[in-house]
Amino acid sequence: MDTTLLRVNGKRLRASLEQMAGIGATPGGGVQRLALSDEDQKARDLLVSWLRDLDLGVTIDEMGSIFGRRPGRDDSLPPVMMGSHVDSQPKGGRFDGILGVMGALEVMRTLHEHQVRTERPIVIVDWTNEEGSRFAPAMVASGVWAGALERDWAYGRTDLNGKKQGEELERIGYKGKAPAKKWPVHAYYEYHIEQGPLLERQGKTIGAPKGILCLHWYDVYLTGEANQVGPTPMEGRHDALVAAAEMVLAVNRLPARMGGNMVATVGEVQCYPNSRNIIPDRAHFTVDIRSWDDEHALKAWELAKKDFQEIAARQGTPMRLEETWRVAHAPFNEKLVQRVLETAGQLGCSSLHMVSGAGHDASYLNQVCPTAMIFVPSIGGRSHVEVENTSWEDCEAGANVLLHCVLTSAGER
Ligand code: GLV
Ligand code: MN
Ligand code: MN
Repeated sequence: MDTTLLRVNGKRLRASLEQMAGIGATPGGGVQRLALSDEDQKARDLLVSWLRDLDLGVTIDEMGSIFGRRPGRDDSLPPVMMGSHVDSQPKGGRFDGILGVMGALEVMRTLHEHQVRTERPIVIVDWTNEEGSRFAPAMVASGVWAGALERDWAYGRTDLNGKKQGEELERIGYKGKAPAKKWPVHAYYEYHIEQGPLLERQGKTIGAPKGILCLHWYDVYLTGEANQVGPTPMEGRHDALVAAAEMVLAVNRLPARMGGNMVATVGEVQCYPNSRNIIPDRAHFTVDIRSWDDEHALKAWELAKKDFQEIAARQGTPMRLEETWRVAHAPFNEKLVQRVLETAGQLGCSSLHMVSGAGHDASYLNQVCPTAMIFVPSIGGRSHVEVENTSWEDCEAGANVLLHCVLTSAGER
């Protein structure tokens, strides 16, 4: 058949997204499907059943990533890979990650129903724990697969309740046997919502990021001295939370002080014993620094550390710093980025060449194979929130761009 006329089934894509949105649905209209939770397990089971319905060869690797392989005419050629993640943030949205997996599934269904044969095999993937919210860091399974992170280190990462990532993989039945180890991939496409406001503001349907900012994650642990809040004078206190609060403000000021293009955020704080009438004797918070310029982000951290040392000394709250995770900025394969733009044009969609501020498994894939992403607009530029939304028309448009990018790559010798 003339595959240029091929289109995905938008209604079927919507139905799959809606069914997935029911797994871990939150009262505010979002989803909570934390990595390796019972909800993640249910979403995985459903995905695997859908992959089996298409007769795909299903493999689970040691990090729990799920692969579904469709043979090519020349099955010895490296495959084209497409996918994203099914896990979510706490009180996350119904599109982040899952759109890229359901979009890829819709591409597979479309090829299956029209009995399209491609030269190269095609693989759909769901990467384990992209979010890094329950177990830091993010993108851990694609990082292990790409050879950038150690499997056993990843297994040992714990959540706030002390549960280990490796044990939780086992508990939900997704600690697979296949080595979490890269194999040759001809091209990797990740379809995703933009998670920012640019496409909507500029009235464009498809975004083709030229790459992803670097992501640097840090953990700060402070020790103070607990005491009864009433009788203890304000002078001479060693309040771990007050020290943390000053440090949070220092992080917020970093981008303005540094200049250039960067963002810096504290998103998670714990305070102990967390009682209104005890001076906190322990505090922990996270720092997230992102920039297109890795060196700039590193310099920002040096500046932050100096501030932290001064604050900790003044407050009398000894500090421990952990440089938890760094992934370099990812400049995508220019040929594939152009292909996304051209394919959008051929399908009658407006498009924008841009940068991704959000992290994606594509960062690690980009280190080992030609990689590009396809973005569709986030309504109001909102993401990692329950109101995260994208129109069904845009979901369908992005899936059609994915379909045709994949067809082109899978047709290459
Ligand atoms: C991934 O969700 C990120 O933090 O950008
Ligand atoms: Mn995502
Ligand atoms: Mn996310």
